Amino acid sequence: MFTSATVKRSFCIAIILISSFISAIASAQMTPNPGQKIALITGSTSGLGREVAFRLSAMDYFVIVHGRNQERGLEVVAQIEDSGLGGARFYAADLGSLQQVRKLGEDIVNDFDRLDVLVNNAGIGSSPARRLVSEDGHELRFQVNYLSHFLLTHQLLPLLQDNAPSRIVNVSSGAQQEIDFDDVMLENGFSGGRAYAQSKLAQILFTIDLAEDLEGTEVLVNALHPATYMDTAMVRNAGATPRATVGEGADGVMQLITEDIGSGNYFVRQRSVRANRQAYDEDARARLWQLSEQLTGLE
Ligand SMILES: NC(=O)c1ccc[n+]([C@@H]2O[C@H](COP(=O)([O-])OP(=O)(O)OC[C@H]3O[C@@H](n4cnc5c(N)ncnc54)[C@H](OP(=O)(O)O)[C@@H]3O)[C@@H](O)[C@H]2O)c1
Repeated sequence: MFTSATVKRSFCIAIILISSFISAIASAQMTPNPGQKIALITGSTSGLGREVAFRLSAMDYFVIVHGRNQERGLEVVAQIEDSGLGGARFYAADLGSLQQVRKLGEDIVNDFDRLDVLVNNAGIGSSPARRLVSEDGHELRFQVNYLSHFLLTHQLLPLLQDNAPSRIVNVSSGAQQEIDFDDVMLENGFSGGRAYAQSKLAQILFTIDLAEDLEGTEVLVNALHPATYMDTAMVRNAGATPRATVGEGADGVMQLITEDIGSGNYFVRQRSVRANRQAYDEDARARLWQLSEQLTGLE
């Protein structure tokens, strides 16, 4: 005997199964339209990256959403798909694993035939205060915030160059501390703030050298401090009181994607300024580049 409760439950289960099936098919089929511009934003499952993903999809970019958290990543993809503009696909990769970064880069090169914008945004803040080490044995903030993006950018450079004009944006910070080349992995005198600030300055050194390498290619690369204490998980987890919106930070990122702003510069929000003096030390930049090649196996 079927009771009305049993019939209702079976009906609900059937609806859930059908909608999961439809969404599985939909996500499998999300592909850019011919000629559509494509952007990859690392760390777009939350905060600033998520806002930039929405802004670019509203401009009809196909967005490659990245992060570790699949649930939040698929939510961003679903929201973009529901808006009827752009299009999106989620790729999971932990930047604390160079093997996962290599796989991410390879997948993107295999799955897409162009890349117009790369926003290196994923990051860990100054919290937690203790020293953490990546799967590869490197100080974790140095790897996630800087080194993995060094590797990923190199993997994706052919796509960006083939498709120039294109843009690379390195989301750095006003928090910058000189790199001590005798203790890059911060085995002595560690603090979360120092690790964060060192990794963020490393991104700027990289930006300046890469811009020099790319001169004449129409691939422009710039770095920025998006805004101070935006209302994001990073800021809230550090126990700080938010003072800016992700929208304010996204305005700065979008300027570096859409406007004529040169290359190899550091911006605070929408204004080009000088970074920490180590960024202009050619020897320091050469040492960091060489070390990064060694650590990522790019040599
Ligand atoms: N918030 C500010 O006021 C502020 C100020 C200056 C600069 N910034 C910079 O802005 C960028 C975005 O920060 P946010 O404030 O938007 O922080 P957030 O909300 O915490 O977002 C960080 C993003 O990075 C991803 N991520 C973190 N660790 C990762 C890992 N190991 N592998 C892969 N992805 C990882 C997270 O994705 P999953 O959780 O899915 O892994 C998330 O999407 C960062 O580079 C930050 O340094 C922020």
